[in-house]
Amino acid sequence: MSRIAIVTGGTRGIGRAICEKLRADHGCTVVANYGGNDDAAKKFSDETGIAAIKFDVGDHAAVRDGCSQIESEHGPIDIVVNNAGITRDGTLLKMSYEEWDDVMRTNLGGCFNTAKAAFPGMKDRKWGRIVNIGSINGQAGQYGQVNYAAAKSGIHGFTKALAQEGARYGITVNAIAPGYIDTDMVAAVPEPVLEKIVAKIPIGRLGRAEEIARGVSFLCSEDAGFVTGSTMSINGGQHMY
Ligand code: CAA
Repeated sequence: MSRIAIVTGGTRGIGRAICEKLRADHGCTVVANYGGNDDAAKKFSDETGIAAIKFDVGDHAAVRDGCSQIESEHGPIDIVVNNAGITRDGTLLKMSYEEWDDVMRTNLGGCFNTAKAAFPGMKDRKWGRIVNIGSINGQAGQYGQVNYAAAKSGIHGFTKALAQEGARYGITVNAIAPGYIDTDMVAAVPEPVLEKIVAKIPIGRLGRAEEIARGVSFLCSEDAGFVTGSTMSINGGQHMY
């Protein structure tokens, strides 16, 4: 059976790798959501043949409408991967309320919005997979990221709560906590700061987007039916607990 999957922030970086992996491993019909970069989305769809749909994951009504468009064009959504995320780094003293709010709305609010849209259908069909992309910085905190760390930490709580609600309906809800992965987001960290971070990764390098996608693919598989409420840390050993 071909499942329908939506990957938010799916046209670049980790999201793109997840889209390609879900299709390759499970034959899913994948739809990639994106928020703003039309050129990247066009390039992604031209290169992969995977459809892309634009909406702001932080906008509740836009997510509801986007998900119903996906369902009418492709079929009911079986798999949600909440990958969309932004950074607005800065110490608390320098961070504006907008920088706090943008990150909370997008990174954490986005998870609520997609789950709210897709969960009822999963419940009716008694099968669903929700995978939320958290972060090492939600687990351990990070200087200059009170907004991002709070939102990502919130994702881990959201995951555990929704896992308890989904279990009776055959819906699993899990999180992945990536460490520092070789993406545009990490490339934006100032070079001297990043050098110090990489020096603390026991494996001695940044992760690759495909290494996160493999974890997502497992959590979305039939084989992972007994895995729920868990967090898979993929961080090169940078944070162990
Ligand atoms: N712990 C303690 N002190 C620190 C510190 C740390 N980790 N990092 C910096 N400081 C100190 C500096 O040493 C400096 O002190 P002095 O003035 O005494 O020298 C002071 O804090 C100011 O540091 P900066 O000059 O860096 O301050 P800034 O305002 O220019 O920049 C910042 C602050 C924007 C937060 C910058 O440090 C930064 O970009 N840090 C990286 C944040 C980060 O890791 N973001 C991750 C993005 S990727 C991602 O989030 C993906 C994921 O999930 C992993």
